[in-house]
Amino acid sequence: MRRLNLAILISGRGSNMEALLKAAAAPDYPAKPVLVLSNRPDALGLETALAAGVQAVAIDHKPFGKDREAFERAMDAALIGAGTDIIALAGFMRVLTPWFVNKWQGRMINIHPSLLPKYKGLDTHQRALDAGDAEAGATVHWVSPGVDDGEIIQQASLPILPGDTANSLAARLLPVEHQLYPDALAKACDLIGRSGESGKT
Ligand code: GRF
Repeated sequence: MRRLNLAILISGRGSNMEALLKAAAAPDYPAKPVLVLSNRPDALGLETALAAGVQAVAIDHKPFGKDREAFERAMDAALIGAGTDIIALAGFMRVLTPWFVNKWQGRMINIHPSLLPKYKGLDTHQRALDAGDAEAGATVHWVSPGVDDGEIIQQASLPILPGDTANSLAARLLPVEHQLYPDALAKACDLIGRSGESGKT
């Protein structure tokens, strides 16, 4: 089995990234980290990746101003340079243009902290609480041009408890995400393998 070259895109603390790196430390895991890329130079996750021996790069979106595609072209060059086969978005807080999404479609996945199709976008936990939902959860999905809209790969849920706040829910969900994402990434690698794509751009 050829392990797919994995790039992880982050913007912050990178705990899901860390979970992916830990899973990928197993030699039989179907993805091998080649790059961690952050749009924020101060992202904590960059340090974690470097400490794990993974190439970690910041491409600050700010100098590109409103030109999202120019920023993404810089990211794309770094991704290609690292030989990326599959991208995992892990708390990456930039909306991607159709250009970038189309280029990587079928090879880019995301983790979102809700049971999609519920609560696309931000404030997912508060919205689940406000709606009186009995459960919350996280979804790993293929990235498509619509925000949090692509085909679902895998979900995990947990009960909402009396007295839960958005913060308590997020804290209890995080370890669930850390289990879910490595499993779902392995599944995505398997699906790419079955579809017979080389994954190369
Ligand atoms: C996670 O809750 C993830 O579901 C969402 O952003 C958060 C990122 O956290 N997309 P971390 O940076 O992985 O710790």
